[in-house]
Amino acid sequence: MKPTASTLVCAGCGWTAPSPEEMRYPFRCPKAVRGEADHVLTRKLDPFRVEFVRGDDPNPFIRHRQMLHSWHMARRRGLTDEAYVDLVRRLDAAVAVVDGHGFRTTPFGRGDGLSDRLGFESTGGVWVKDETGNVAGSHKARHLMGILLYLEVVERRERPPLAIASCGNAALAAAVLARAAERPLRVFVPTDAEEVIVARLVALGAEVTVCHRDPLIPGDPCLHRFHSARENGALPFCCQGSENGLTIEGGETLADEMITQLGPTGLDHVVIQVGGGALASAVIQAFRFAHRAGWVSQLPRFHTVQTQGAWPLKRAWDAVQEQLRVSGEVAVLERATKHRAEFMRPWEETPHSVAHGILDDETYDWLAVVKGMQASRGSAIVVDEALLREANALGREATGVPVCHTGSAGLAGLMQLRRDGVIKPAERAAVIFSGVQR
Ligand SMILES: Cc1ncc(COP(=O)(O)O)c(C=O)c1O
Ligand SMILES: [Zn+2]
Repeated sequence: MKPTASTLVCAGCGWTAPSPEEMRYPFRCPKAVRGEADHVLTRKLDPFRVEFVRGDDPNPFIRHRQMLHSWHMARRRGLTDEAYVDLVRRLDAAVAVVDGHGFRTTPFGRGDGLSDRLGFESTGGVWVKDETGNVAGSHKARHLMGILLYLEVVERRERPPLAIASCGNAALAAAVLARAAERPLRVFVPTDAEEVIVARLVALGAEVTVCHRDPLIPGDPCLHRFHSARENGALPFCCQGSENGLTIEGGETLADEMITQLGPTGLDHVVIQVGGGALASAVIQAFRFAHRAGWVSQLPRFHTVQTQGAWPLKRAWDAVQEQLRVSGEVAVLERATKHRAEFMRPWEETPHSVAHGILDDETYDWLAVVKGMQASRGSAIVVDEALLREANALGREATGVPVCHTGSAGLAGLMQLRRDGVIKPAERAAVIFSGVQR
């Protein structure tokens, strides 16, 4: 049989996932061992065998369906294109019953008031992708819809439970989608999880487990419990590429929409808030693929934003830049691939910030992000709390979008880059407002 146009390959060691008949849940590289190579399963598409846009359906999972591994697996298993579209529509209708609406292309355009306030000229400005009205109030549901579609395509009668470690936007998105698909979901939350969020998770039918820290066991207790659930057969329904490589492609629909909405307008910069790194990884990989395939003429410079509370990505980026001074780029990136822990280490202190959604102590999807910044002459920056607050107030006032501090952290980074002179008044820069203020 001819190889499919979509394959899952480990970015760390090159392992290629076999067909779903041989391995139904190829979410992680079987060679993944902590501290060695950076095993992250990555979906590879053949640009000559996919259509970027098919039709004009407002649902990105329909319009950009050929960018999804699940579409290729469906076709391989004998499903027609129409049957796949029907499957997406059915699932989307169930999501709408749970959350009030399904997946629709979210707004993206120049924020005129915001651009004026930040001193941009009329040819430049800030473009805002507004994800606050997306399913479950953030972009997280996109990541998970990609996984869910894959499950719907490859599963027969078995339907193992789903699991996630989160107490924020990702958990809410997982609970909405699991409910829509009528699947059991286990959510592992820390002791300081917000009551309103836990109540909503329970109302959506999720089984919530509060995880206490064991002083004898280092690391995040929620993640430990999540891993044991996985060992007991639960499927990783999460927004970290290191735990489930398939989570990235659903997130890519966000950038696919941006590319389509931009038309011939080129972007000079994209500034993205980073926690675990899946959002940045998805946006960067989608843009890079579209650029290589010739669907966008200009690759924007990618900048990432973390808080002073925890900046493991910036620390890794600095380590890469340091090594670049003595070795060539290929050698350094190869070294980073093979010796992850030399660059990416969990943050030592317990971090705090108003942007609490991006306080992950490790940037799980760091390497794809570092490669993207490197290839585009971007940068990793850290912003202080005052700027995070200022950006949120300005962003909300100038655009009317009820975005939370985590979701406007990209704007804080953009403001910093404006002040530093990296983003010029005549340039076009995009940010993603994700996460509605609850
Ligand atoms: C609103 C919002 N924006 C951005 C992020 C960062 O995404 P990632 O963890 O994939 O870096 C998060 C993660 O929780 C989030 O909730
Ligand atoms: Zn591997």
